[in-house]
Amino acid sequence: THPLRLGIAGLGTVGASVVRMVARRAEAISATAGRPVRVTAVAARDRSRDRGLDLQGVTWFDDPVALASSAEVDCVVELIGGAEGPARATVEAALVAGKHVVTANKALLARHGPALARAAEGAGVALAFEASAAGGIPVVKALREALAGNRISRVYGILNGTCNYILSRMELEGLTFEACLKDAQALGYAEADPTFDVEGFDTAHKLAILTSLAFGTELDAEGVSVEGISAITPLDLRMADELGYRIKLLGVAEATAAGIEQRVHPTMVPKSSAIAQVMGVTNAVTIDTDALRELTLIGPGAGGEATASAVVADIADVAAGRTPPAFGRPTAGLTAPVRAEMQRH
Ligand code: HSE
Repeated sequence: THPLRLGIAGLGTVGASVVRMVARRAEAISATAGRPVRVTAVAARDRSRDRGLDLQGVTWFDDPVALASSAEVDCVVELIGGAEGPARATVEAALVAGKHVVTANKALLARHGPALARAAEGAGVALAFEASAAGGIPVVKALREALAGNRISRVYGILNGTCNYILSRMELEGLTFEACLKDAQALGYAEADPTFDVEGFDTAHKLAILTSLAFGTELDAEGVSVEGISAITPLDLRMADELGYRIKLLGVAEATAAGIEQRVHPTMVPKSSAIAQVMGVTNAVTIDTDALRELTLIGPGAGGEATASAVVADIADVAAGRTPPAFGRPTAGLTAPVRAEMQRH
């Protein structure tokens, strides 16, 4: 069988980890996918930087859009980031060229996910995004595949590692917000523009993706009400502590009589609760369903290796031909607009 040829667009922390993981786990990936997978092309701006990667025999593109339409590539792995600019251009070019797309880009999906999903469906290729929400936690697969028999009533959790890291250190070490943010940036967890982390937008992007999967609704990031953590002070954390609470930035989506409600805000959680135990860059997602009542997945939500873990899972799925429609669940829970959209295709 032919190998699946990967073009990696973006060689930052996550891109470099993906290149290493694909090489390190080549045999296991090929066993689960039923065919070999290899990196044939990469695109990044700075050729001279030493990333410690073995890129012998791999074609280097300065322009990710050129990589996206290269005849040497079957599947484009977009790890550039950002809702517009080169990330969007790369994904669009890949879909136009009929290539599968794997992306970790929650900002892009939050803004253009429905249109990109339609383009992928039209082209008969995959748009896979396990890494876009909660990093290494396989929550996209959980919602879309493992919970197919469940009616979901609520999804909530800690979806931004940077915020949870900042709140944890502020609480445990009494450090200032600014000092903790600097450390998170140095560790490579924060977004290029950390406003996305601390003002709650990154959580909102991920929440919108999970909401669409959980409830079979059209992805609606604009519909999330958002409040971040930049106004939280060490005093707030001490007061919460004295009352028996911790403050966590939660993203919450729930089915209400008025429809699906989505919100992001700092929340007081009892110290005895499971979610209060989640400290540092770790993420957690709780899913309330009719059959399982409550399911909580906890794990690393950011960082090169954790995010690469999810990206490689998608790559294996693409190689195996396991390519479900990107958003919404094909169940009775679909809303009228989603059903109408599906009938059009
Ligand atoms: N900045 C994000 C976070 C990276 O801190 O969780 C993972 O999406």
